[in-house]
Order: sequence, then structure tokens, then C-alpha cells
Amino acid sequence: MKKINAAIVGTGFIGPAHLEALRRIPNVEVIALVEVNQALADEKAKILGIPNAYTFDEMLKQSDIDVVHICTPNFLHFSQAKAVLLAGKHVICEKPLAVKIEEAEELVKIAAEKGLVNAVHFNLRYYPMVRQMKTMREKGELGEVYSIMGSYLQDWLFLQTDYNWRLEPDKSGDSRAIADIGSHLLDITEYVTGLKITEVMADFSTVHKTRLKPLKAIETYSGKMLDMSDYQEVPINTEDHASVLLRFDNGSKGSITVSQVSAGRKNRLNIEISGSKSNFEFNSERPNELWIGKREKANENLMKDPSLLYPEASALVSFPGGHNEGFPDTSKQMFKEVYAAVIEGKQPSNPSYPTFASGLRELIIGERIVESHKKQAWVKI
Ligand SMILES: NC(=O)c1ccc[n+]([C@@H]2O[C@H](COP(=O)([O-])OP(=O)(O)OC[C@H]3O[C@@H](n4cnc5c(N)ncnc54)[C@H](O)[C@@H]3O)[C@@H](O)[C@H]2O)c1
Repeated sequence: MKKINAAIVGTGFIGPAHLEALRRIPNVEVIALVEVNQALADEKAKILGIPNAYTFDEMLKQSDIDVVHICTPNFLHFSQAKAVLLAGKHVICEKPLAVKIEEAEELVKIAAEKGLVNAVHFNLRYYPMVRQMKTMREKGELGEVYSIMGSYLQDWLFLQTDYNWRLEPDKSGDSRAIADIGSHLLDITEYVTGLKITEVMADFSTVHKTRLKPLKAIETYSGKMLDMSDYQEVPINTEDHASVLLRFDNGSKGSITVSQVSAGRKNRLNIEISGSKSNFEFNSERPNELWIGKREKANENLMKDPSLLYPEASALVSFPGGHNEGFPDTSKQMFKEVYAAVIEGKQPSNPSYPTFASGLRELIIGERIVESHKKQAWVKI
């Protein structure tokens, strides 16, 4: 089988997660990386065991690179994804796809014109229990959806001294908690239920009105190591916390709460979907379990075991029951589907994986949520 060569742009937190996932897929090799400057690229290439370190423009010129993974801060996604597509290469972009709706629309258009494989890394869809919920719903085991309640809570921005480029709108966009983690939750909500969000009513809060910005460079999640003299106080204009009421196209209602300042919640996506036959609850900090609530009999707690899941979900399982799988496995499972399309050389007509169109959808919902907060009113999607 033909070997597929990939390059990774940005090797902070999530770039190496892409690398590890790709190293677990047959016939795929990561042959190059790109960093913010050549010295850092050379250093990272040595650490990560990647043979070539290029500038972005040099990387685009390499004819042996088939696929490019964009793992840089949000404001770079549009220009980099566009350049990759125009260079005729397939692209897997981190979420959010862009910082503005118009940019994402342009990317969707260019990707369609070129016919190239395009994906957005909404990897949390690839927990087997998320696919199991979707499949159970498709088979009628949830019944009519009555309501949806979701939350995504983290604590890595809990302290006033916690700092990251995500706190700067020129790098992250006008929304932070919603764009950064709410996007995953909203994506999963529509993916599992098959419903579309039609209206939103949002209320944000910025708990730390100012933060202490480190004067030295630090990578995501690597804070807590500096002295007070290493900080400068800066104003913060994006949300630490957001509550959003949701209306769906079947008339049902729901809500989400997203926070990056919830002590002890490390990275907890929780979704509870109440239907006329069952209630499903999934928690990403316990991803090998699915709670299935019942009225007329005992509740069930389904443990991840490929022999107990529907084939659609067991397709995302690599290990037997009791051998826990987690966050790194989600990217591997997603890339298996995306690289099957890369081998075919084009975007399938109905891709199983999240595409640039999914990325555009999240930007539209996210922008309406910001608008709703500003107007303190319901806004239609
Ligand atoms: N899907 C997920 O679960 C998930 C998880 C974390 C992050 N992300 C997304 O991944 C992206 C990166 O986040 P992160 O947490 O890895 O950030 P990070 O700050 O840890 O890493 C970003 C990297 O990009 C590099 N970089 C900056 N400018 C560059 C340029 N012009 N060219 C090449 N490299 C450049 C930085 O040096 C750094 O190594 C964000 O868009 C974020 O939303 C997604």
C-alpha cells in the first residue's frame, strides 16, 4: 500500500498528540514539522524524532508531503489552511476552523473546489461511547429527544496567574471558553442527537477581569512555575464562564455551561440527553462508561467492551473490555477514517468524520452565542 507522508504545523500541546496518533496508524509517516521559527523547529524535530524541520513556506513546496495537520493558535488556522489547500495538499485543521465565519466559508469553498480531504479535529466525537449513544439514538433506543443538558468544565485558567494565548482575542478570537471547549460540546450535541440548534440565549462572565501575564514564553498547561516579578497585569475581555440556553429544531430545549475556572474539573465534558425511552449520560473523565437511565427498570452502566457495543461504536475500539482507552485514542480513531479518504485521494461525498463544513457550523453557532450575550437576548442561528 502507498505510504502517506504528513507534516505537522505547531508542536505545543496538541501537535505532539497528532504525531502520536499518526504513529499508531499503518502506512502513515510524519516526515516534517513547522514551528514559529527555524531554531525551534530544529529543536522540536530532534525531540520528537521527525526527520525534517521547515519554515511554513518551505514545507508547502515539498512535493512528498501529502497531508498537513494545523496545530497552531486559532488566528493562524485560516491563512495556513488556505495556503495548504492552494498547494494541493489534504488538510486536518484544529478547532476552531477559523476566527471569523467569512474565513471558514472561504475555506469550505476552496476545499470543495479542490476536492481535497478536509477535516476539523473534533476528536471528542471519537470516544466509542459517544458513537454508541449516536447509534442507540439512531436505532430508536433513546426515543424522542425531550431535553439536553451539557457542561464542559476545566480548571487550568482558575488562577489569576494562569495565562495563555487563548486569553488574547487577536490570537484566539472574540470568544474563549465557548470557542475553545464549548465548540466540542456543541458539536457532540448535534452529532449525537441528530438535531440542529435553532436559537441561543447566552450569558457570560469574566471572573478574572485582569490577569497576570508572564513576561517569559510558556506553553499551554505548563504554568505555575514563575515568580510574581515575572508577570504583568493585563485586562481580560473574553469569557471564563458561559451559560447558554438552547432551542432545537424538534421543539426540545436544553442548556450548556462552559467554564475554564472550575477548581478540580480538569477537562470534564458531560452530556445528558433525556429521551422518551431512556436517558443517556456521558462524562469524558470516565470515557469508558455510558450511563443509561430507565424509568420502568433498573438503570444500566455500560462498560466499554467491543463485544457489547454496536459495530459502529466497536469500530472505534482497539482493546478488549477493561483495557481503558481515552483522549489519545480519539485522535487515532478519527485519523483512521480521515486517512482512508486520503488514500482514495479525495473528500468522500458523505464523510464519516468532521469536515470544514462542521467547523463552519461551530463558528456560526459560536458567533451567535457571543451576539446573544452582547444583546442579552435570544438570537436565531
Ligand atoms: N481537539 C482538541 O482536543 C484540542 C486540544 C488542545 C488544543 N486544540 C487546538 O489546537 C490549537 C493549538 O493549541 P495548543 O494547546 O497546542 O497550543 P500551544 O500554544 O501549546 O501550541 C501552539 C504551537 O504552535 C506554534 N506556533 C505558533 N505560531 C506558529 C507559526 N506561525 N507557525 C508554526 N507554528 C507556530 C507554537 O510555537 C506552539 O508550539 C488551538 O487551535 C486549539 O484550539 C485542540
